[in-house]
Amino acid sequence: MDPWSGRVYRFGMNAEPILAPHRSVRVFRPGPLPEGMLERIVREGQRAPTDATAQMYSFVRVTSGDVRRRIAEFSGDQSHVAAAAEFLVVCADLHRLEAVLESRGCQPGTYPATGLHFAIVDATLAAQRLVDAAEALGLGTVCIGGILNGIEELVGLLALPRGVLPLFGLCLGWPGEAPVERPRVDVASVLHTDRYQGQTPEAIYTDVATMAAITRSGDWIGVLARYFASGGTMEQREGALRRVLERQGFAW
Ligand SMILES: Cc1cc2nc3c(=O)[nH]c(=O)nc-3n(C[C@H](O)[C@H](O)[C@H](O)COP(=O)(O)O)c2cc1C
Repeated sequence: MDPWSGRVYRFGMNAEPILAPHRSVRVFRPGPLPEGMLERIVREGQRAPTDATAQMYSFVRVTSGDVRRRIAEFSGDQSHVAAAAEFLVVCADLHRLEAVLESRGCQPGTYPATGLHFAIVDATLAAQRLVDAAEALGLGTVCIGGILNGIEELVGLLALPRGVLPLFGLCLGWPGEAPVERPRVDVASVLHTDRYQGQTPEAIYTDVATMAAITRSGDWIGVLARYFASGGTMEQREGALRRVLERQGFAW
């Protein structure tokens, strides 16, 4: 099957896909990135659009093996966190912005909700562009939301000051597996015209059938329920995240 079917092509004699294929990689070959490669892809990530030019994000590169192993452990024994050549913690960051304002004696405003909103948008856009650059250079990547299981400890381990909130981890390294592409729901489920359209039972049925391939059991709703239903992982993370939001200055 054509791996590029339905994808964005560059038009011309040699119809090349514009974007490198994306699949999360969880098995990495040992070996560091060449000198300067990390800085190169982070610089590309920095080219992402940013609200009001503020660049409200930071990436914390974790090089200590002990710290990596600890993060891997509390993230749910995710060994790829320790095995990848590089591991970054993607953070929303209002601390650096406030330091810039204060350097001219400006008193930073009070906008925890708005700051949180735009800092998460900025950080995520930059991280995604960084991932695109890494994949274009042949690296494998995977985001690690599991860091939320130990978010209070993580803030201490990385000495994150007030105004900095860890969002997710990012493994980068040489791929040691070539996973099949995971499906996505139908484009009509995410593309609305003029006004939000609710899901019909037929559309839900189609999406659930499509997404079955993402699981070994074929039960996508079962997977979602383990995370998002009452008593699931997301509820369990809520208390610690709220405490960290408060401590880092993002609560209102
Ligand atoms: C915010 C976020 C958190 C994630 N957390 C994890 C994680 O903790 N461990 C993991 O192995 N994959 C994690 N993933 C990767 C997803 O499982 C993956 O993107 C999804 O299954 C789709 O597969 P694909 O990226 O190969 O298309 C995360 C992805 C995102 C965007």
